[in-house]
Amino acid sequence: MHTLIKGGTVVTAEGERRADVLVSGEQVAAVGERIDAPSGTKVIDAGGAYVMPGGIDPHVHMELPFMGTVSVDDFLSGTACAAAGGTTMIIDFVIPAPQQSLLEAYRIWRERARKATADYSFHMAVTWWGPQVFEEMETLCREHGVNSFKHFMAYKNAIMVDDATLIASFGRARDLGAICMVHAENGDLVFRMQQETFERGIHGPEGHPISRPPEVEGEAANRACQIAGVVGVPLYVVHTSCRQAMEAIARAKLAGHRVFGESLVQHLVIDDAVYRAKDWRHAAHHVMSPPFRAPDHQQALWGGLQGGTIEVIGTDHCTFRTNQKAMGKDDFRKIPNGTGGLEERMSVLWHHGVRTGRITPSEFVAATSANAARIFNIHPRKGTIAPGSDADIVVWDPAAHRTLGAAAHHSRNDFSIFDGMHVTGAAAVTMSRGAVLWQNGTLSPVEGRGRYIERPCFTDYARSQTVRNTHCAPTPVERQEFVP
Ligand code: URP
Ligand code: ZN
Ligand code: ZN
Repeated sequence: MHTLIKGGTVVTAEGERRADVLVSGEQVAAVGERIDAPSGTKVIDAGGAYVMPGGIDPHVHMELPFMGTVSVDDFLSGTACAAAGGTTMIIDFVIPAPQQSLLEAYRIWRERARKATADYSFHMAVTWWGPQVFEEMETLCREHGVNSFKHFMAYKNAIMVDDATLIASFGRARDLGAICMVHAENGDLVFRMQQETFERGIHGPEGHPISRPPEVEGEAANRACQIAGVVGVPLYVVHTSCRQAMEAIARAKLAGHRVFGESLVQHLVIDDAVYRAKDWRHAAHHVMSPPFRAPDHQQALWGGLQGGTIEVIGTDHCTFRTNQKAMGKDDFRKIPNGTGGLEERMSVLWHHGVRTGRITPSEFVAATSANAARIFNIHPRKGTIAPGSDADIVVWDPAAHRTLGAAAHHSRNDFSIFDGMHVTGAAAVTMSRGAVLWQNGTLSPVEGRGRYIERPCFTDYARSQTVRNTHCAPTPVERQEFVP
């Protein structure tokens, strides 16, 4: 089965050019001017449109058991709403309970994800430490294609880890050639500030940002960056929301550490005024961590994206309906943390980023797809349009107008934090490994068509870092593995 995407401007992270794209089966067969397609080829007219690699959102949580409830989008609704917005791959997080086997949790998440309509992969969260975790990290890397390990520095008494666990896990990941990730907030400080805020009589959602100021994030981001630098493991800092955390990432990069920054599209365009809303529901739906920040932090994030401190714009899509948010009606500490954005991400970034001249179409592709593919080691299979790459393609109409909101989105959530936002630029066609999932405003999800994507480790990088970091030398057992 062939499809010819004809007459568009092909954009990759490297540049843009007028070209046709021939898709054969699940892969790109050719990219070039005026391709003659075999007879019977289906033609998609891309005149006036951009033809870009499908988006990759490396930070989502589908049907996540969290804070006493479960996030409402599952792997089918989540990957479907992703496709409606031009995103063709998600990377979710397996989050084992403390003391739970990582492999057991991995199998549970694999089972949940079987219904996905587009491709997916998993980061593994390290929520506790012991010999079993040490062993299972290797099995995950070698046998299951998991090359990224996430650490929550917040959510005390739940999934937060201390510095000792961070250091042990970072060292293990380094030796395996994996990358580490952190949710950077000082969880002890948050815990204390939450208590103090509540005791001062502030019980509503406005207490959430008060208990998680930018300094709390900046401190943890700096600590994680410095520890990763000493240990010698690459680090990816998720949902960077403030200037302090950005500066920590920038300092680490300047010091020569392999550190990457992610921000969320939500944090680029929404500020902390939302917590001052009279309507409890409105404010509660914006409770996420880190919280929305004052506008000067947004300016810093845009600067970070333009200047290269931030490589990836994700969403941390983790949605809860109003009845779930109401679990914290009388206590902001009990409002399930999370917001959505998977469907809106590409349009919002295009509108506020490309149309304002802050970033170019190529930089847009880098931030929404190519950089995540490179950092998590699935490039050039994903994140580009080239012969042999998966035909995950979005035909992007830069002139299409949309008004965002819960009535228009495909998420199961009953609220949209983008409600009423007008955007220009939208996915006209979204193709996942050669199959059209979204066209002319119609979704055609196929339950179970999505595939699990394995991501191999960076073994040579691990070897070089083990040699380089003599001040953090591996244990004798680990050393044997790397002595030629
Ligand atoms: O508030 C958030 N971000 N919820 C999802 C879990 C996480 O911290 O990423
Ligand atoms: Zn987080
Ligand atoms: Zn998250």
